Amino acid sequence: MGNLFTMLTVWADYGQNALVILDQTCLPNREVYLALKTAEEIWEAIYSLKVRGAPAIGVAAAYGVAVLMQGVEVTDFESFYREFVKVKKYLESSRPTAVNLFMALDRMEARLLRHRGEGVKDWKRVLREEAEAIREEDAAACKRIGEWGVSLLRPGMGLLTHCNAGHLAVSEYGTALAPVYLGQERGYAFSVFADETRPLLQGARLTAYELQKAGVDVTLICDNMASTVMKQGRVQAVLVGCDRVAANGDTANKIGTSGVAVLAKYYGIPFYVLGPTSTIDMGCPTGEQIEIEERAREEVTEKWYARRMAPEGVKVYNPAFDVTSADLITAIITERGIAYPPFGGTLRMWKEKTF
Ligand code: MRU
Repeated sequence: MGNLFTMLTVWADYGQNALVILDQTCLPNREVYLALKTAEEIWEAIYSLKVRGAPAIGVAAAYGVAVLMQGVEVTDFESFYREFVKVKKYLESSRPTAVNLFMALDRMEARLLRHRGEGVKDWKRVLREEAEAIREEDAAACKRIGEWGVSLLRPGMGLLTHCNAGHLAVSEYGTALAPVYLGQERGYAFSVFADETRPLLQGARLTAYELQKAGVDVTLICDNMASTVMKQGRVQAVLVGCDRVAANGDTANKIGTSGVAVLAKYYGIPFYVLGPTSTIDMGCPTGEQIEIEERAREEVTEKWYARRMAPEGVKVYNPAFDVTSADLITAIITERGIAYPPFGGTLRMWKEKTF
């Protein structure tokens, strides 16, 4: 399967107190690693999508705060904690939609607070440990998601995916792409259509790159071609990731996802959302409460060509995510299993019950 899975995308290097990331904005052309040593560098890497994908953002933020706190030389807990909260709030302001960022940083804070009676060495150690636990749990969750997901698929199926919810977007393996990789290992011979995913081309730059690297049969299509390949009978299931799943199953994911869901419903194709339970936000009763990131107009007007792609001064609307309503979703797949509509009860059980 090539060497995709030996390619680490995010880790902490405590030798040089740096968060190390594979810079996803350089793909597919170059594999560049960046060692980020300041809060500003980490914030910028998350904001500019050098590290991206909901679970990977959570892992990067956890490692980031752990790395930054290693350099804090105070001995009283209140001062240490004050600095922690400052960094946490700052990193939380980098992107609003993927809940994993907030969940991971809340977990780091809760762990630190449980050790307030100890010393500075312990506070630093528990932050390192918690960040590692978040990464490991994410990797394990992805494997489980792959197992559940592949149980819904059959050999030879045509699959369609939007954005990138693969190895690059998580600690290992992926969410929406995890069943594809498992199927590949089992000789299922899927053919995958990757939506290019305007405006930032995560499908073209990242999904096509990693599926090809893993030896999966992948065909890149422009976003406006999904209907055609569905109508032609070339797609038997849609697999997408998620940035935040509301308590009723409404799901925020990359802009364009909800359009794909509408098409899938029209053509009678199952539409599956795959993600770890850390992406479920019981604090959002429905998708209405999910904050949708709006990004710079230049991403639409001049990002990918040397020349402008639109007239100077044209009005632009650039929401980075949309919400797919629960009634368009066939099933939500997490590490804990497969939820079918109505989703509320199962999502609540997954979040509340410790297995
Ligand atoms: O803006 P991005 O590239 O971070 O958006 C990513 C997505 O929408 C993914 O589908 C989602 O985070 C799931 S990643 C496993």
